[in-house]
Amino acid sequence: DRPRPLVAGNWKMNGLKSSARVLSEVHAGYTPGLKAKVDLAVCPPATLVGAFAIQSVGSRVAIGGQDCHAKETGAFTGDISAEMLADAGASYVLVGHSERRQYHAEKDTDVCNKAVAAHRAGLTAIVCVGETREERESGRTLAVVKKQLRGSIPADSNSRNLVVAYEPVWAIGTGLTPTAADVAEVHTLIREELKRLVGKAEQAKVRILYGGSVKPSNAAELMAVENVDGALVGGASLVAADFLGIAGAY
Ligand code: G3H
Repeated sequence: DRPRPLVAGNWKMNGLKSSARVLSEVHAGYTPGLKAKVDLAVCPPATLVGAFAIQSVGSRVAIGGQDCHAKETGAFTGDISAEMLADAGASYVLVGHSERRQYHAEKDTDVCNKAVAAHRAGLTAIVCVGETREERESGRTLAVVKKQLRGSIPADSNSRNLVVAYEPVWAIGTGLTPTAADVAEVHTLIREELKRLVGKAEQAKVRILYGGSVKPSNAAELMAVENVDGALVGGASLVAADFLGIAGAY
């Protein structure tokens, strides 16, 4: 019994009001056949979360944020809390994306605190982990991912409030992807780790997404890998037909 797959689009710092058109195309293409097989989420920039959530009422496309602050309110200029995202209509939030870890120096403990905040606000945290090219080349992939998981996943996690996304940093936006065997190895490790982090019964229901250069042309192969329960899609999620094509790989 595999968990119901989730295909989530991370728009990163892309999207304007006019991008409502892309979301409309996603709604239109999320046919009953697709709805029966796969959950969809779109994570636009924070400026669009509210409008996208309103636009998505009744569509079954979920909306998510790309980051949140660990605190609920306070003097944190420019930051957005999980409660604010929930209030705007989000049901997911990405935490610990490698671009946040890299450009904003987020550590595992920061990511964990953000995931706790997400849970406090009633959001599902999509906790992102993944090794750099150097880490893979020096054979440290499994150790790095294990350490990130242990440091980033809070104790109050369960299959409803946690999704794990494995994104090898070297595969993000590069067109490179790991082999199916490499993806299987890491996802199996994540499944094993989830046993100790959320418990044996619960771990089987936690969705583990693969992210990094997922396209319609490689989605079927990646999604067929054992313990891959969906995709976290960057660039290809900006084009409705590509995003839907990936979802259609199920
Ligand atoms: O969150 C999404 C990932 O960073 C993947 O990005 O699909 O553009 O490689 P990409």
